[in-house]
Amino acid sequence: MRNRYHLGLAMIFFLSSVSITAAQDPQKKSAPTWKEIQPLFEDNCTVCHGGEGPTRGLDLETRAGVLKGSRAGAVVTAGKPDDSELVKRIRGESEPRMPLDGPPYLTETEIALIETWIRAGLPDAAAEKPAEPGGKQKPKEPEKTAKRGPPAPGEPVTWSHVAPTFAKRCVKCHKDGGIRGAAPEGLELISLERVLHGGERVALIPGNANASPIFRHIQGIASPRMPLDGPPYLTQGEIALIERWIQGGALDSAGKSSPIPAGRKVRYRGRLTGIWQIDGVKVVVDGSTRIDKKKRPGVGDNAEVRGVILPDGRIRATRLRRR
Ligand code: HEC
Ligand code: HEC
Repeated sequence: MRNRYHLGLAMIFFLSSVSITAAQDPQKKSAPTWKEIQPLFEDNCTVCHGGEGPTRGLDLETRAGVLKGSRAGAVVTAGKPDDSELVKRIRGESEPRMPLDGPPYLTETEIALIETWIRAGLPDAAAEKPAEPGGKQKPKEPEKTAKRGPPAPGEPVTWSHVAPTFAKRCVKCHKDGGIRGAAPEGLELISLERVLHGGERVALIPGNANASPIFRHIQGIASPRMPLDGPPYLTQGEIALIERWIQGGALDSAGKSSPIPAGRKVRYRGRLTGIWQIDGVKVVVDGSTRIDKKKRPGVGDNAEVRGVILPDGRIRATRLRRR
C-alpha cells in the first residue's frame, strides 16, 4: 500500500503538466488519451474490475470495457464527466467510494485527468496518432513503480490484498440492496469496517482464523459453504490468503492491525472434535459454562457452542449442548 503513495507522488509530477494544459483547452491535442488513463485504472481498479468475472461486470482493462459499463449500464457519458457514475465514484459523490479498498483514493490530479479525458470524448490513443503504415509495434509501456496484486513473499497480508476477493465473490449478496435484498444475516462485506462489524454475529476474530466464521464458511467447515452461488468456491490460494490475513491480525490497507471484538457473541454448530473443541475451534470451558445435563455432548457428537470472545481472541463457552 505504501507503494501506492509513492506511485501517487510520481504520478503528480508526471501528470500535473498534462492535466494543466489539458484543462486549459480540453479539445486540444493535449487532452489525455486512453494510453494515459489506462495505467490509472490498472494500478487502482482492475484487481476488482478486470480479469475473470470483473466486479459488477465492469471491466476497466480496456477502453471498450469502460464504454460498455457495468451490469447496471453506462458508467461514463462522453463529454459529461459530472454525469458519469465513474467520476461520482472516484470523487465519493456516489457510495461506496472507489477504489473500494481505499483510502488512499485517487489524487485530485488523477481525478482531473480522468475528467478531462471524459470531457474530451474519451479519446483512444489511435484517434490521436493515426496507425503507422504496416502496423508498427506498440511502444513499450514504461516500467511501473507499483502494482496492486498479491503480496510479495514475506510481505504481510493486508485488507488491500483480500478486498478484491470479497468484491468479486461476496459483495453481490453481502450488502444492503444486493441481489438478495438485505445483506444475509446482516453481514455486509463491502469495507473493512463492515467486515469487522459483522452482522447478527461476529464474522471475523483478528488473530484467530480458525474461529472466524468467514474462514469457516469459505473452507466449508461451516455450512452453507460460501460463496453461496459456488461452485466454483474460492481457490486454495484465495482461502490461504484470507487465512493468513485473519491470522496476522486482519491488517488494514495501511498495515495497522484490527481490534479484537472482545465481549461479542459467537455461535458454532458442528461436531465436537475434542474436549473442548468444535470442528477444531478450541473453546474455554469453565465453571460459568452452562452444559446441558440431558444433552451433554461427547466427542464425536453434533453440538452447538455459544460463547463470548475474550480480549485475547479466544472463545469462552457460555453454553454447550448436543444437537
Ligand atoms: C477492492 C475492489 C474494488 C476496487 C479496487 C475498485 N472497485 Fe469499483 N466496485 C467494487 C464493488 C464491490 C462495486 C459494487 C459496489 C456497489 O454495490 O455499489 C464497485 C462499483 C463500481 C462502480 C459502479 C458500477 C455500477 O454498476 O454502478 C464504478 C463506476 C466503479 N466501481 C469504478 C471503480 C474505479 C474507477 C476504480 C478504481 C479507481 C474502482 N472501481 C476500484 C469494487 C472495487
Ligand atoms: C449468492 C449469495 C451469496 C454469496 C455470493 C455469498 N454469500 Fe455468504 N451468505 C449468503 C446467505 C443467504 C447466507 C445465510 C446462509 C444461511 O444461514 O443459511 C450467508 C451467510 C454467510 C456467513 C454466515 C453469517 C452468519 O452470521 O452466520 C458468512 C460468514 C458468509 N456468508 C460469508 C461469505 C463470504 C466470505 C462470501 C464470499 C467468499 C460469501 N459469503 C458469498 C449468501 C451469499
